[in-house]
Amino acid sequence: MDMQPIKARSGNHNLENYEQTYNNFKWDETKKNFSWSETGKINIAYETIDKHAEDPATKDKAALIYSSPDREETLSFDQLKRKSNQFANVLKKHDIEKGDRVFLFMHRSPEFYAAFLGILKTGAIAGPLFEAFMEQAVRDRLEDSEAKMLITTPDLLERVPQSELPNLEKIILVGDSGSDEYISFEKEMEEASEEFDLEWVELEDGMLLHYTSGSTGKPKGVYHVHNAMIQHYQTGKWVLDLKDDDVYWCTADPGWVTGTSYGIFAPWLNGVTNVVRGGRFSPDDWYGTIAEKNVSVWYSAPTAFRKLLSAGEDAAQKHDLSSLRHILSVGEPLNPEVITWGLKAFDLRIHDTWWMTETGAMLICNYPSVDMRPGSMGKPFPGIEAAIVDNEGNELPANQMGNLAIKEGWPSMMRAVWNNPGKYESYFINGWYVSGDSAYKDEDGYFWFQGRLDDVINTSGERVGPFEVESKLIEHEAVAEAGVIGKPDPERGEIIKAFITLRDGYSESDELLEDIRQFVKNGLSAHAAPREIEIKDTIPKTRSGKIMRRLLKSWELGLPTGDTSTLEE
Ligand code: PRX
Repeated sequence: MDMQPIKARSGNHNLENYEQTYNNFKWDETKKNFSWSETGKINIAYETIDKHAEDPATKDKAALIYSSPDREETLSFDQLKRKSNQFANVLKKHDIEKGDRVFLFMHRSPEFYAAFLGILKTGAIAGPLFEAFMEQAVRDRLEDSEAKMLITTPDLLERVPQSELPNLEKIILVGDSGSDEYISFEKEMEEASEEFDLEWVELEDGMLLHYTSGSTGKPKGVYHVHNAMIQHYQTGKWVLDLKDDDVYWCTADPGWVTGTSYGIFAPWLNGVTNVVRGGRFSPDDWYGTIAEKNVSVWYSAPTAFRKLLSAGEDAAQKHDLSSLRHILSVGEPLNPEVITWGLKAFDLRIHDTWWMTETGAMLICNYPSVDMRPGSMGKPFPGIEAAIVDNEGNELPANQMGNLAIKEGWPSMMRAVWNNPGKYESYFINGWYVSGDSAYKDEDGYFWFQGRLDDVINTSGERVGPFEVESKLIEHEAVAEAGVIGKPDPERGEIIKAFITLRDGYSESDELLEDIRQFVKNGLSAHAAPREIEIKDTIPKTRSGKIMRRLLKSWELGLPTGDTSTLEE
């Protein structure tokens, strides 16, 4: 679908002149907003919460508006400062030191946010885990990071294989009276002081680990440092266009990077009221949240917009959505159809943004003051140099497809892949960070996403590594071999399709396929379970034994199979 550009609306935008700013901007200008520029020391939790709590003008302003079907709670910056201080004291009491990994495995709740910030205040590294993870997914992450402590809830505890995690010294339970084995969050908080001497750290000290999938191996721990705040703050200002009186809602779970960079840091670094909605997605619930909380800036994902679109206009018309003034999207290609729907449903443009777990913050974006070309991810953020490069890292001319790459050295870039320096190095060619996405740039500097260059699957905006799913599949007693691909799907972007061969003695039946599906779901997580499973006689492999997912995909889509010279006999 080819659409005309959509003109920027004139108005009072934080970034009025993109071109001029892009040509002149230096990150050092942003640094001046933080205490670091005077003292040389920093803590991202101080800049997100305490700073606003110390300012009489914002002390009592709502920082967090939490709402879920069974709970409503609002915390001011001052209250959030006190609660996170209390939790930092709890951690110190239990011997948590700077650099220790402290993981959170729980549903979104006010306690989550207080605990997360408390971890950062001690200088420890926070590792938030998505609540839908099952045992294997939890184990892989706690094992690799050598986490020393976990904060979780009684209902999720059974997915934590404690006996297999020798480094995990202590578990704090939220919503439990505690026992000899576990520490009670509530009891400890009650006893803890609201004053805490925050650990001042260096900009390059670690603060966050997010695990994410590639096409090979187990999930990788993407390591972020306090310095990322510079970019969280500035993109919050210029892309989210946050202003003092905004009510902002990011729909992502903090188990994913969008839920931390833009569900915690960007809004609070900008001193803005942040809405968190717990519970499951439903159109009524989501539109209701916008209407009831007067959400003005809304950051969500194409998969959610597509679901709202298919729920129809009636679903939207039941609610007063007039508080909205700015909408953004991330995680998958934003279809022009969705943009057209957005114009009708909200009378607003939906602004696409492109970035990755590894990049820590937005890199290529659409801005309120810039004309938009539907289907394009937009233009590089000021301070970011983006290009399309070939496999040797040479820049390609306009309109030529290639690797989407970013010139090394932006503030929020990951600083390491945990325990895996080789993997980290492999992202770089000739001074460029190579994203793994293919794209082209048009003659006016707009970037257009084309697809992934590796086998990583993007299902409903969630990144799934085929290797993890294949490994789980072959643990099932009936499965001999497995190859997993992403299959295009109009609502989810891609769904996971698995090809398997059966072990001797097993034959195809609906029950067996459902059992295999459940097995992956119960072992990894619901979003990693294949929606389609097809039984084959053999799985195509290279002579060195690598599964040829590309060939499986070509077969599935009826495309030419290309070069198959490495195919095993
Ligand atoms: O393929 C791109 C896709 O999501 C990948 C990054 O996934 P993840 O690390 O989970 O981070 C998601 C949210 C930051 C990218 O390599 N992706 C992300 N944004 C877009 C996108 N694909 C198309 N358009 C986007 N705007």
